[in-house]
Amino acid sequence: MDLGPLRTEYRGDGEAFEERHLVSRHPIEQFAAWFKEAAQCPAVGEANAMCLATCGRDGRPSARMVLLKGFGRDGFRFFTNVESRKGRELDANPFASVVFYWEPLHRQVRIEGSVKRLSEEESEQYFHSRPKSSQIGAVASQQSTVIPDREYLRKKNAELEELYRDTTVPKPSYWGGFILQPEVVEFWQGQTNRLHDRIVFRRPRDSTAPLGHMTHQGEDGWVFERLSP
Ligand SMILES: Cc1cc2nc3c(=O)[nH]c(=O)nc-3n(C[C@H](O)[C@H](O)[C@H](O)COP(=O)(O)O)c2cc1C
Repeated sequence: MDLGPLRTEYRGDGEAFEERHLVSRHPIEQFAAWFKEAAQCPAVGEANAMCLATCGRDGRPSARMVLLKGFGRDGFRFFTNVESRKGRELDANPFASVVFYWEPLHRQVRIEGSVKRLSEEESEQYFHSRPKSSQIGAVASQQSTVIPDREYLRKKNAELEELYRDTTVPKPSYWGGFILQPEVVEFWQGQTNRLHDRIVFRRPRDSTAPLGHMTHQGEDGWVFERLSP
């Protein structure tokens, strides 16, 4: 199927995303502002849904959607089965990239950085904050393993519901959280005529090196620049 003619009109040049429109020179504060707008936009289904790309030692990337469960200057948190494919890849190669796409706002945010496991306490706390049915679902599913059919999962789920009817569901050892500590954060605002805006924040390895004349000093050791779309 040829999708070449499929085109969406974005915004006019008057609504461009300029450096002076940044709410902060810190990428996390800027992300917070865009995230708030996405979360408040009724046309955005799940503002915290993000595509997470990982790559094991074989160098072959894999990507899937996960939900962002918290963020701050220290990083972006998500939870999963640590023995899943993504979990194994992150264990072997602790770097990842995530992408948000808020289609109704014509906005994309890309984040890259290193990944660390969250503490057992934090994972435990989050696990028990979820609805009991989700906790049971996590226990029932050995994520990324081959199973015979859907009935197998249904049965396992029903047995676990019975088992934990009157008790707390213990967090499985294979379930936990990760934090992505950002080193690059790129904000993309779609415009008409392909003149999209891209402002990328990065942390220079050598913070004492002089900045190029098109590079701006951000907060907290970050710098930012505009990339050609
Ligand atoms: C919108 C959306 C949100 C998801 N959120 C999560 C999540 O937070 N954690 C998770 O482990 N899987 C989540 N999934 C399922 C993953 O995409 C994936 O199927 C699963 O984690 C197994 O991935 P893996 O085999 O590559 O490790 C989500 C899927 C969708 C479509």
